[in-house]
Amino acid sequence: MIVRKFRPTDLKRVYEIENMSFDQSYGIQIFQQLYEMGIGFLVAEENDYVIGYVMFWLKYENQGHIISIAVDKDYRRNGYGTQLLAKAIGILFLITDTIYLEVRASNTGAIEFYKRFHFKQDRIVPGYYESGEDAVVLYLKSKGPISSN
Ligand SMILES: CC(C)(COP(=O)(O)OP(=O)(O)OC[C@H]1O[C@@H](n2cnc3c(N)ncnc32)[C@H](O)[C@@H]1OP(=O)(O)O)[C@@H](O)C(=O)NCCC(=O)NCCS
Repeated sequence: MIVRKFRPTDLKRVYEIENMSFDQSYGIQIFQQLYEMGIGFLVAEENDYVIGYVMFWLKYENQGHIISIAVDKDYRRNGYGTQLLAKAIGILFLITDTIYLEVRASNTGAIEFYKRFHFKQDRIVPGYYESGEDAVVLYLKSKGPISSN
């Protein structure tokens, strides 16, 4: 498996993965626009086949933010999500010391997944999603630069 930068030719496949993963889709144009805006956009690939993706950026100047992460449902629990999130975190921690994300309160699988990375709960945002569901805001703080001493 490799994790590499998204390419425009991945768009259809990424959209397919998003569609099978979320009830509400961003839509293919939003992916294209986010990519053109220069967000962090990585895919996990196995034998030239895209298995999952992660999108991330810096919000409000210096706050890292995971926009979206998803893995093809037929390939979950095989470590692809971990590889993608680890890479995104590694890149964001080069430029910021805190990463936030929102997750549906009912998405207990994803919350477990984030807890494995030591994300902590920041707050609940009532009715954050269009469906009226609450969001759980999670954050991860960098342990800071590694001292050479
Ligand atoms: C969340 C998601 C990206 C995880 O991807 P993945 O490739 O399955 O994750 P990994 O295989 O790296 O999982 C690592 C660990 O996280 C935890 N975990 C992952 N999915 C879990 C689930 N559904 N339930 C409980 N724990 C889970 C487990 O501890 C797992 O280790 P294990 O398989 O050895 O028990 C994937 O489930 C997904 O695409 N979900 C739908 C989209 C989504 O909800 N995205 C997040 C929105 S905020």
